Amino acid sequence: MTVIRGATTIAEDTPEEIRAAVRELLEQIESRNSLKRDEVVSIVFSSTSDIHSFYPAKAAREAGFESCSLFSAQEPDIDGGLKLCIRAMLFVEKNETPHHVYLRGARVLRKDVAQKFNVAIDGPAGSGKSTIAKLLAHDYNILYLDTGAMYRACALAALRAGIDVSDEAQVCALMRGIALDIVYRDGVQHTLLDGEDVSESIRSPEVSMAASAVSKHVSVRMKMVEKQREIAGKMSCVLDGRDIGTFVLPDADFKFFLTASADVRAKRRADEMAAKGYRVDFEALKREIAARDEQDSTREIAPLKQADDAVLIDTSDMTIEEVLRTIKQKMQEKI
Ligand code: DC
Repeated sequence: MTVIRGATTIAEDTPEEIRAAVRELLEQIESRNSLKRDEVVSIVFSSTSDIHSFYPAKAAREAGFESCSLFSAQEPDIDGGLKLCIRAMLFVEKNETPHHVYLRGARVLRKDVAQKFNVAIDGPAGSGKSTIAKLLAHDYNILYLDTGAMYRACALAALRAGIDVSDEAQVCALMRGIALDIVYRDGVQHTLLDGEDVSESIRSPEVSMAASAVSKHVSVRMKMVEKQREIAGKMSCVLDGRDIGTFVLPDADFKFFLTASADVRAKRRADEMAAKGYRVDFEALKREIAARDEQDSTREIAPLKQADDAVLIDTSDMTIEEVLRTIKQKMQEKI
C-alpha cells in the first residue's frame, strides 16, 4: 500500500470550482504516479472551513472514482492557514515511491515537492497594488515584498542627510555608506535603515516624492533590483512595484498591472493618509500623484510600464475583494 498526498486551492466556494479543482488534482495525481483507477483503494479529503458548497468526495465520484471508498471532512479554522484549500490522501495498491501533487495556492504547503512561484504586481501609486499584494501573499501563505519601501528608505536617508535627491553622484555616495535591510517579523515586512525600523516614517508625502526622484538613478535601481531578485530567487513571493514584470522578474510566473483613474487613486491615498493622522490637501495630493506618475513613467531606466504578458486590471470601480478574486481566477486559469 502507498499513500499519495495532494492539495489544491479554489478561488471561490462554488460547486463548479470544487468539481473542477478535485478533478484536476486527481487527474494530476494519477498521471504523475502512473496510476490505474482500480489501484485506488480509498480517498480521504479534507477541506478548510470556508468550503461549504459541495463535497469533494462527491466531486471525486463525479470525476469517475466510483469503485473506491471516498470520504470528506472539514478542517478546523486555523488562523493564518491557507484559505479555500482541499487536501486529499489517496491509498493505493502499489509499492512505489509516491509523487505528491500540490497545485495552485497549495503549492506553498510543500515547498519540497512544489515549485517556487513569484507574482509581479505593478502599477501607479494608489492603484491598489500593495493592498492586493498583501492579501494575496497572506492567502497563499507566501512572502510579500514591497519594493517601493526600498526606494522610500533610500529617499529618507537622502532627505535626512540633506542631499539633493536628483543628484545621482551624491545619492550613490550616500548609499554606499548606509545599510538597508528588509526583514520579516510574523510575516510582515519591516524596512531597516542602519538598523532603525523606518517602516512608518517612509510613508510621508515628502518621502513619496523623493523616492520617485531617487528611483530614477541607475545605480540606485541596480542595487535595489539585485536585492529584490535575491529575495524572489529564494522563495515564493508577491512583489509589487513599477518594474517587477518588465525588469526585476521578466520571467515571473504571474504578472498583473493594476490601474485606476487619477481621481480614484488620489482619493484612496487621501483616505490612507488621513487614517494615519496626516493632514491631507486633496488637490495637492492629486498633483503629487500626477507628478510621480509622470516621473515614474518617463524615466529612462525601467519606467512604469505594463509588461506585454501582464494582465491589466482597472480597479477604479472594483472593490478589494473583486480585484483579489479576479487575480486568483486569472492565476488559476494559467496554472
Ligand atoms: O509604490 P510606492 O508608492 O511605495 O513607491 C515609491 C516610489 O518608488 C515610486 O514613486 C517609484 C519608485 N519605485 C520604483 O521606481 N520601482 C519600484 N519597483 C517600486 C517603487
